[in-house]
Amino acid sequence: MSVRRLDINQPDEFSFSKENERWAADQLKKYPKDKQASAVIPLLWRAQEQADGWLPEPAIRYVADLLAMPQIRVLEIATFYTMFNLSPVGRHFVQLCGTTPCWLRGAEDLKEVCRRVIGEPGQVREDGQFSWIEVECLGACVNAPMVQINADYYEDLTPESLEALLEDLAEGREVATGPQVERTNACPMGGPTTLLNGGAQRQTRSTPTRAPAKAKIKTLRKARKGGPDRLIEISGIGPKIENQLYELGIFHFDQVAAWTKADVAWINEQLRFKGRIEREGWIAQAKVLAKNAGGAS
Ligand code: FES
Repeated sequence: MSVRRLDINQPDEFSFSKENERWAADQLKKYPKDKQASAVIPLLWRAQEQADGWLPEPAIRYVADLLAMPQIRVLEIATFYTMFNLSPVGRHFVQLCGTTPCWLRGAEDLKEVCRRVIGEPGQVREDGQFSWIEVECLGACVNAPMVQINADYYEDLTPESLEALLEDLAEGREVATGPQVERTNACPMGGPTTLLNGGAQRQTRSTPTRAPAKAKIKTLRKARKGGPDRLIEISGIGPKIENQLYELGIFHFDQVAAWTKADVAWINEQLRFKGRIEREGWIAQAKVLAKNAGGAS
């Protein structure tokens, strides 16, 4: 880990704004009286936000005093965690991921853009608009390469799109966060590539398997005439769970609608999730759906 030092230029003092004072007092109530030091990270974070994105040394002392902690301990925390900036940052603070997936997908080229447009890492551009640093994985590898700017992620970047993004931010233009290409969140580029026609689902429906021998619940060996109901119409049931229910011998809304407490417990056990059936109101939903379908409820 690199050496992290306090900036040589420091303000004379720091104290929380009235609003942050009230916020800090509320935070402290969350912890037992002799464990107030547990609030050190959120308080330092709030101090950093108040100080325009970096943590001045007086803020570190202020938080230490507020928590009755030795100042050296809070200094250790502030210098250990890279989420705390020890020097001023630009109005748009760019954290560029340089870890392997992003590196393989072109992070080095993005660094060149940052160097050219902003300057050397850790330096604030002359107009105060930008600064940048390289960081480790930010957890968006599937959309690599990416950067975080202040609180937002910008993904699937190219040198061109990053440069355009920086220019838009500098000009105060509205920008789109997330992927900078035609894709939704982390979906495959160009749209879904699997489960396109529900083939596997249909196959399962037409060849239902036997319910486990120990089932206490009323199950069927196969769907009634007309085929199984679309259990995915019950909010909370997706294609995977629907198939699992078919495998267990549950094909119809009226079967779900008739579940007893013991049945619910058994299904919970089979599907390995607890409390979800009750939480999502499967039975009530199934009653309505069974009624609409003209089945028994
Ligand atoms: S490697 Fe860049 S976000 Fe994970």
